[in-house]
Amino acid sequence: MDKFHVQFLHKAPGGLADAIELSSYKTELHEGCSLQWAFAKDPDSGFDPDYLPARFRAPGKTVFALWWFVYPNLTLNFYPWGLSVNVYEPIPGKPDKSLFRWYSWSWDDKKMNEREKRWLSEQVDTEDVEAMTLVRRGARSGLAPRGRFSATEETGPHWFHHAVSKALTAK
Ligand SMILES: [Fe+2]
Repeated sequence: MDKFHVQFLHKAPGGLADAIELSSYKTELHEGCSLQWAFAKDPDSGFDPDYLPARFRAPGKTVFALWWFVYPNLTLNFYPWGLSVNVYEPIPGKPDKSLFRWYSWSWDDKKMNEREKRWLSEQVDTEDVEAMTLVRRGARSGLAPRGRFSATEETGPHWFHHAVSKALTAK
């Protein structure tokens, strides 16, 4: 849910950091959901601007993806090729595990066939799952330091942690 990890986890060359204009990366926080999006480095890898509201338009630019997170455990990732849905399900009796469900629907089969090459679909998912595994291992070790969220790069994780905290302490 943050821009911060993109340059480290999905790094260039050949990673997501190469496919988007990182400086354009935005996080929007809404009631119950958040949206992250960025302009594509190659305008041919973005949405037709006519499909999107005015705030996603800039001369010569196209939006690479719209990554929606719906609290508490659903992501709707819209790409020019279609929709990728991720669901993170709790497993009863196993509080340290999640079931990751992954679905996709195409609305442009030609672009769908290019989704690994152009939108790095499986590569980004694999990098994220590996990272989550390492973070979990680090957290269990008890050695991982705690720190503050970056006020500019980690508004998404801060928003999420705040929502979880609010839900856990609700009466
Ligand atoms: Fe990621």
